[in-house]
Amino acid sequence: MATPKPAPFPAEDERLPLLIGFQRVAENTARQTRFIDHGRGIYVYDTDGREYIEATASFYVAALGYQNEELIDAIARQYRELPFFVSALNRTSRVSLELAEKLVALAPVKDAHILFGATGSEANDFLIKLLRFGAVARGEPARATIIGRHGSYHGGTLATASLTGGHHEEFGLPLAGFRHVAQPDYHGERRPGESGADYSARLAAELEALIAAEPPASIAAMFCEPISFSAGFKPPPAEYFPAITAVLDAHGIELVADEVITGCGRTGRWWGSETMALRPAHATMAKGVTSGYFPLSAIAIGADLYGALEAGSERFGTLAHAATYAAHPVGAAAALKTLEIIERDGLVEHAARLGERLGNGLRAFADHPLVGDVRALGLAASLDFLRRDGDDRPANDDADAVLERVYGALLERGVVGRPAGRSLVIAPPLIVQADEIDEICRRIGLALDDALAA
Ligand SMILES: Cc1ncc(COP(=O)(O)O)c(C=O)c1O
Repeated sequence: MATPKPAPFPAEDERLPLLIGFQRVAENTARQTRFIDHGRGIYVYDTDGREYIEATASFYVAALGYQNEELIDAIARQYRELPFFVSALNRTSRVSLELAEKLVALAPVKDAHILFGATGSEANDFLIKLLRFGAVARGEPARATIIGRHGSYHGGTLATASLTGGHHEEFGLPLAGFRHVAQPDYHGERRPGESGADYSARLAAELEALIAAEPPASIAAMFCEPISFSAGFKPPPAEYFPAITAVLDAHGIELVADEVITGCGRTGRWWGSETMALRPAHATMAKGVTSGYFPLSAIAIGADLYGALEAGSERFGTLAHAATYAAHPVGAAAALKTLEIIERDGLVEHAARLGERLGNGLRAFADHPLVGDVRALGLAASLDFLRRDGDDRPANDDADAVLERVYGALLERGVVGRPAGRSLVIAPPLIVQADEIDEICRRIGLALDDALAA
């Protein structure tokens, strides 16, 4: 169903009155912009009536796909009941309490307490702030430094962009108090013949060296996505997290799991932390929690920090933190219904099953002349365009250019993938069906051939 463009629609070369992220600012012309008009299931449609398979659930968000009527009805009901209420000053809404209880039961953090935000950035930013409050309350205010990893993404605020592992210089970042270590990239960065265990030990030694170069007891936490999608979806060797967490534990540094993408079934378990056998001190979540139908994020705060927050707020008279739209009742209703549907319809198990099909489908391209590595785990996969030669050495330096060609060709074939870290990432809505997975794989095959011929 093609919806006519609303009139007046910008002329093709007209600059749009808005900035759009992750592109050149001057590309904001109507010609260079696709206007998405509506969606159904895993499909979205632009204003020219073209259909696209949203094979990244639009930045890994729309877990239930588009136009889930049951979810829309739950949101509409909440709008009629209590469309807004702020959580602060001894007041909150019943529905946000219900969601907190649900998240405590589900979260990968034992005995958690929940603080809400509106976005993934807010969740990470607020947690950094809470870690500092906790450190002050415990009488060690110097423990304020946070470690992130190159290539990881944690948000767009000043603190979370500082924690993010890239794009610092152009914004005059990072702020003081943020350090970065290597992203696990076994395919790209291993020495010829290096085992996963040796590679992981090398990264753990780098972390150890970074900690040793900092003042004693000055590092509060290390934030990790269990698997970083922004870095190109490169699940680390099995030895990586055990090696990293041993170093953190030895120095009393907490591990924070950024589950903003990996949460709510994406990796074939409820949490990426489960898939990677992590026991994080705290975890942040967003995106799939509401399937994107309302902006809502949450922090699962571990018991230790919660105790420090309680003690600190006694001392200071308050926890001087709130956010107007945090714990929004409509967001809470959206999350409760999303989580109910995921549980009731077995979508976590479904994601694991369909993910196997996706992995098998993509592994068929492992020998394609452009493809260097195929990775799949849960309902997510990536094709890496860095190839290795017979001596296990990197064989080409045009992986980014190949990626651009494949990504563009795939979009022409009506599939939205995501270029990231030399790799094309695929992670469709959790509701995707087997024939749709097959169709995504078929079109990826065509796009690879298009890019090879280009
Ligand atoms: C792992 C991760 N953390 C945090 C964020 C920030 O979330 P938001 O864009 O909702 O602020 C993102 C966004 O893509 C993300 O991928």
